[in-house]
Amino acid sequence: MAAAQKDDAVVSGAVKVGLAPMAGFTDMPFRILCGERGADFAVSEMISATALTRGDAKTADLAATDPREKPCALQIFGHDPATVAEAAAALAGSRPLAIEINMGCPVKKIVSSGDGSALMKDPDLAGKITEAASRAAHAAGLPLWVKIRAGWKKGEVTAPAFADALVSAGADRITVHGRTRDQMYAPSSDNGVIRAVKEKIGKRAEVFGNGDVDGPESAIRMIKETGCDGLLVGRAALGDPWIFGRIKAALAGEDTPPLPTKEERVSAAIRLLRDVCALYGEERGVRESRGRAARFIKGIKGSAAVRDRLNHAETEAEFKDILSRLI
Ligand SMILES: Cc1cc2nc3c(=O)[nH]c(=O)nc-3n(C[C@H](O)[C@H](O)[C@H](O)COP(=O)(O)O)c2cc1C
Repeated sequence: MAAAQKDDAVVSGAVKVGLAPMAGFTDMPFRILCGERGADFAVSEMISATALTRGDAKTADLAATDPREKPCALQIFGHDPATVAEAAAALAGSRPLAIEINMGCPVKKIVSSGDGSALMKDPDLAGKITEAASRAAHAAGLPLWVKIRAGWKKGEVTAPAFADALVSAGADRITVHGRTRDQMYAPSSDNGVIRAVKEKIGKRAEVFGNGDVDGPESAIRMIKETGCDGLLVGRAALGDPWIFGRIKAALAGEDTPPLPTKEERVSAAIRLLRDVCALYGEERGVRESRGRAARFIKGIKGSAAVRDRLNHAETEAEFKDILSRLI
């Protein structure tokens, strides 16, 4: 890395870098891998407040954490203040790093129920949810975080005023994904929105940036352009948990470690397979591992054919054998 970039990076050495919440991916086995490779913390997949408070066993599984993990925040989605607060109090019992409310999910099924980013259209309700949830989290000694987007509609960036209201209602951290709901995942995330939120909030709460960080350069750029207190990495970590080590080293002004070898990538995919099968049972574990393993082996010679074979593998042993033959 160039010397000038290193100097900038040293200034940012204390910045925290976490794994972004991703439904279907950021469960305990993947969070362990990321923590071992440099992530400071992680956020769980989103957990339905309604399902949790109704006692749904599968939903409670989403809240499982493990001592081998780095600290993990548990994320809730919902739109009824009392239900979200009840879910926050229940999750606080497992002593997470924080309780986070999802006000950023753009998926139709979620927003049509008034959850996720739909709350950005209703700042009053979002404030009431934050107030109720922060009371529950604070009573248990935990911080309350909220994850938001730039706004609901392209051209209508409401995040700064929205975040300001949430902080007044008790939020201790706001994480901003720099896209509006209708932008989903394209075009690129806007660091200007994250900066505007940080300027509005100042030191009243932490502001974390999120969106399109894919390595040391984009991480340093986000910090320099926004002044954020930390950042989250999502999609770029899915087949590459080593990204956290590279980013953390660059932020500390150290030489970045080399990219993982083929052997390291395949071994990590096999380890993930084992832990996912242990958590969910073999049938679901193998099914869940197909998309995950494909990300770890992407770009390795012969990986396309291997991916096809993995899609037909039915047992953990068969899956492992197919992966092992890549090295
Ligand atoms: C498959 C997938 C699942 C996601 N699930 C969640 C979720 O459960 N909660 C949430 O707040 N964001 C969720 N997100 C959004 C990410 O946390 C993140 O904001 C987004 O991917 C942008 O960051 P990135 O460019 O680093 O990926 C999800 C994203 C993806 C791709």
